[in-house]
Amino acid sequence: MFELIWKISLLILFVASFSIFCWTFGYSLMMPLLVLLLGGHLHYVKKADIKLFSQVGLILFLVILASHAVLHSSITLPLHIPVAGVAMLTMLLFNDLQVTFMMAFAGSLMASMILGGGFEMMLIFFVGSLAGSYGVRDARRRSQLISGGLLVSVSQVTCLLLLNPHLDFILTNNFLAQYLYPLVLNGVISAFFVMTTLKIFESLFGVLTNFSLLELSDFNQPLLKRMVLEAPGSYQHSLVVSNLSEAAADAIGANALLARVGAYYHDIGKMVKPEYYVENQLMGINKHDTMEPSISRLVVLNHVKEGMELARKYKLNQKIIDFIPQHHGTSVMYYFYQKSLEGAEEGKSMEEENFRYPGPKPQIPETAIVLLADSAEGATRALEDPTPNKIEETVKKIVNNKFIDGQLDECHLTLKEIDKISSTFIRILSAMYHARVKYPEKKNGAPRVLKSWPSSSSPEAPRSKERSILKDGPSDQESSEQNPPQPSSDQENSPGHSSS
Ligand SMILES: [Fe+2]
Ligand SMILES: [Fe+2]
Repeated sequence: MFELIWKISLLILFVASFSIFCWTFGYSLMMPLLVLLLGGHLHYVKKADIKLFSQVGLILFLVILASHAVLHSSITLPLHIPVAGVAMLTMLLFNDLQVTFMMAFAGSLMASMILGGGFEMMLIFFVGSLAGSYGVRDARRRSQLISGGLLVSVSQVTCLLLLNPHLDFILTNNFLAQYLYPLVLNGVISAFFVMTTLKIFESLFGVLTNFSLLELSDFNQPLLKRMVLEAPGSYQHSLVVSNLSEAAADAIGANALLARVGAYYHDIGKMVKPEYYVENQLMGINKHDTMEPSISRLVVLNHVKEGMELARKYKLNQKIIDFIPQHHGTSVMYYFYQKSLEGAEEGKSMEEENFRYPGPKPQIPETAIVLLADSAEGATRALEDPTPNKIEETVKKIVNNKFIDGQLDECHLTLKEIDKISSTFIRILSAMYHARVKYPEKKNGAPRVLKSWPSSSSPEAPRSKERSILKDGPSDQESSEQNPPQPSSDQENSPGHSSS
């Protein structure tokens, strides 16, 4: 209710100021009415929150101001206005086709109404905006912004020629100077506008574009560098979770890059006390063996709190911070719960609720995927003999338990998507753990040199298998030693697993 009142107040304020602006400078009052209709569309169809509401309003306001400035300028031509740049910017910032389409339409209409260019100008801007925004959709490289700008130029010129399919028009003296050059330049200006303002709008709106996500995925980022040194085991675990999450997000059409980067940072809190997590215990000594379950619970719970504090200290975006509490949701720490039940005095009951993470539950598909990948990776790594059947059984059990426990209730995943996520995990984990072949050993334990190591060209020895032996053989043994099966009924969320 409070948000609705805010939205209405903001819309009224925007429409009233725009009406005064139009009245003062003699522009059509149809424009404020259009803004009102678009506001209604955003609220009823898009269910947009107040943040998106004000952000879109600000961008539209800039288009109006730019059009007004160009109209009263003697240097620039109306066709120089980078209306397409606004649509491209909207696409990069919000990655939403509906909002981008709406902004392309509203921007083109308002610019042409203010500049008096009529239907023809509106259509040219609209076609250019759509072409440019589709051109930069999912862009990950700066060069894609330049090609998006070129696409704007080509589509706008094509639109002009289709609107005026006469040779007379092309052969007129002012065709080049009045139409062709400005429209070609318009695409270049649009690309330049996006490149120079993207970072500003990103920090202003607190959103994450693919460019920022790629920056965060750089292993030279201070937090990731610290994690390699201070909690190397947790760092390796995060890499595996990120691979699983990226593939699963890709399979269901979610934001794969966001899932990958979120997974990199989901356990940064473990850096504070890395020795309490099995993946960092090089000597195989589990500190929790000598601790009360209630104290262990507090230590493990704290990796979420401390992770969020670290993330804020390093000024990570809220979208990435959300992965830290949501990758556990409100799951139960079964290992400690079971341990406390075993050690409880007779007649004394232990509340399962006391052993739950504080949440919130995953709110978007990407955090839900990381929650599932985190548990699936930990449980699979603890398997003594990870055959494909065992991996499949374990992953399905993990996913089912999370679903039954209600951890996926708020992330808008369908059953079909959950099934796809599960299948992706099984495929990747089976390839990772099952394809390993152990070194043959002599009776005294010393490694034996094979007389005839299968050649890579031999049909019995595929290249991938050979690589796996050389690279992963010893670490597989280490891993199985450090991850003994835990006495927990549910393998996730125990300190014996990196999923904590
Ligand atoms: Fe984890
Ligand atoms: Fe965790």
